[in-house]
Amino acid sequence: MRKLLLAAAAAAALPGTAFAQDPSDLVDARQGFFTLMGLNIGPLAGMARGEIDYDAARAATHAANLAALGSYNPMALFAPGTSNADLPGETRALPAIWENTDDVGAKFAAYAEAAQALAAVAGDGRAEMGAALGAVGQTCQACHDDYRAEDF
Ligand code: HEC
Repeated sequence: MRKLLLAAAAAAALPGTAFAQDPSDLVDARQGFFTLMGLNIGPLAGMARGEIDYDAARAATHAANLAALGSYNPMALFAPGTSNADLPGETRALPAIWENTDDVGAKFAAYAEAAQALAAVAGDGRAEMGAALGAVGQTCQACHDDYRAEDF
């Protein structure tokens, strides 16, 4: 207990460094977060294109996962020192992210909103799901266009 209190006191005294993380670990977490988005949108895109049979329960599950990911605040995953200028070859996160954090947050909020709308209709049929999915895909694209490099 005493140790815990001391640790808490140290954390309070050094807010910037007490929870400092290894930048590469943070990039791994960030890419894992976006990989989960990709893994959940993939089957929905396959259903929308008719490559996979539409399955209402499966569609609803993936859409609920996308909505859940939208309620996670990802901004701490963009810690300073983790752009592709800082860590070439490890990340595609462009330095523009750190110059436009408000816009990045707004673009993520647009994704979250579209994902909620998708979750509301994904189990209602292929056409309903497909229309809402297109709107989600546009929010992915909008952020990638401005803030993700083509290559590592
Ligand atoms: C607010 C901005 C933003 C939104 C919205 C966004 N992404 Fe990304 N995404 C990024 C950035 C930045 C990276 C690069 C991360 C890195 O390399 O560190 C990325 C990387 C990825 C990756 C590659 C992960 C890896 O392992 O390299 C996938 C897959 C991905 N995004 C899918 C999606 C999908 C699918 C959506 C929408 C459902 C989406 N993203 C929405 C910013 C965004």
